[in-house]
Amino acid sequence: MDHFIYKNGSLHAEDVALSDIASQVGTPFYCYSTATLTRHYQLFTEALSPLPHLVCFAIKSLSNLAVLKTLADVGAGMDVVSAGEYMRAKAAGVPGDRIVFSGVGKTRDEMRLALIGGIRQFNVESEPELRALSQVASSLGLTAPITIRVNPDVDAKTHEKISTGKKGDKFGIPISRAREVYAEAARLPGLDVIGIDVHIGSQLTSLEPFEAAYLKVADLTHTLRADGHNIRRLDLGGGLGIPYTRDNTAPPLPMDYGAMVKRTVGDLGCEIEIEPGRLISGNAGVLVAQVIYVKHGEDRDFLILDAAMNDLIRPAMYGAHHDIIPVVEPEAGAEQQPYDIVGPICESGDTFAKARNMPKLAEGDMVAFRSAGAYGAVMSSEYNSRPLVPEVLVKGDHFAVIRARPSFDEMLSRDTIPEWL
Ligand code: LLP
Repeated sequence: MDHFIYKNGSLHAEDVALSDIASQVGTPFYCYSTATLTRHYQLFTEALSPLPHLVCFAIKSLSNLAVLKTLADVGAGMDVVSAGEYMRAKAAGVPGDRIVFSGVGKTRDEMRLALIGGIRQFNVESEPELRALSQVASSLGLTAPITIRVNPDVDAKTHEKISTGKKGDKFGIPISRAREVYAEAARLPGLDVIGIDVHIGSQLTSLEPFEAAYLKVADLTHTLRADGHNIRRLDLGGGLGIPYTRDNTAPPLPMDYGAMVKRTVGDLGCEIEIEPGRLISGNAGVLVAQVIYVKHGEDRDFLILDAAMNDLIRPAMYGAHHDIIPVVEPEAGAEQQPYDIVGPICESGDTFAKARNMPKLAEGDMVAFRSAGAYGAVMSSEYNSRPLVPEVLVKGDHFAVIRARPSFDEMLSRDTIPEWL
């Protein structure tokens, strides 16, 4: 169910009008729906039941503490890729045994932090990392539970910048070398080899690449068990795509994904982990912005918004499409016109959409970018010294600011002018 719909002519998040939030917090702002977050999490747990499993939310997609606590409270684990994300998971009340640590370049300090604070497993991505983790764990007198991330050489058929499972990508170890790397892992002190990890990319719109990868993981499970390893957990990564448009090209649903997981690896007696980010958070958030000016251009009119590429980088970075809709519901049959929708930043890349058909809009009107919950706020920056936009969480008929807009003083106070200047 979509929790961002028009009610009484005005776009709502659950039961709160976005215009009411705007009048209290100003624009631009991100707004998230609790009901969507928890529903999406539940879709995955339902899809994987009755297999023993843990859904670990990929914090990188949306890392606000209130969002993490919302998901932790319904039972989610977390997938972290840095000390900062680990600290966020802990601060949101997630116990260490529900946190998995992914990432291609974990530092020794990060390993130490997680080993001392408690960790479900490290997903190790290379032999040097294996040796470093062995040393760090041994020096602390601890044992690190590990999986090894294998690169199955599967084409995820997604944007090249978010494809991670092809030969030549920087992630994991080639699956063809898995046996020797597992053998080394088993010999090293301070490590407990518990499973296999795979993640082939993000925004996958078909199950085929997953299926190809998971079949390889199933094969590898048999091989490694025959080699004497006690493989008892499979981390299948994240990556299931979401609909960014409202046509009928929607990616497979979590239920279909779950059926495929059961088909490919369900009879191995392993505990299953997945690391979805976008599917849980993407359509749980919108970015609301206001039209500063409507400028007449040579070819067509520009809608110049108060949000910019620093607030939502996906269109500039990946050519990503986000539906952009007016906050005030257009009348049925309202005349449309094509606009270039842009931000105020001084580069042409600061363009959200070209020739996008929209109902006629005027200065002061508000628009919402749909599907902006994942990789929106987390990838924002202060480029052009634009303060980070606030985040708001809605639950039913109430809302709270979960990250306030910093004042200019707060923004400037992070810089220091040395005494000698
Ligand atoms: N696990 C690992 C190891 C990952 O690298 C990722 C995403 C995930 C899980 C979660 O994938 P998801 O379920 O969200 O697809 N900034 C890009 C997406 C980068 C994804 C990076 N890794 C974007 O805006 O499209």
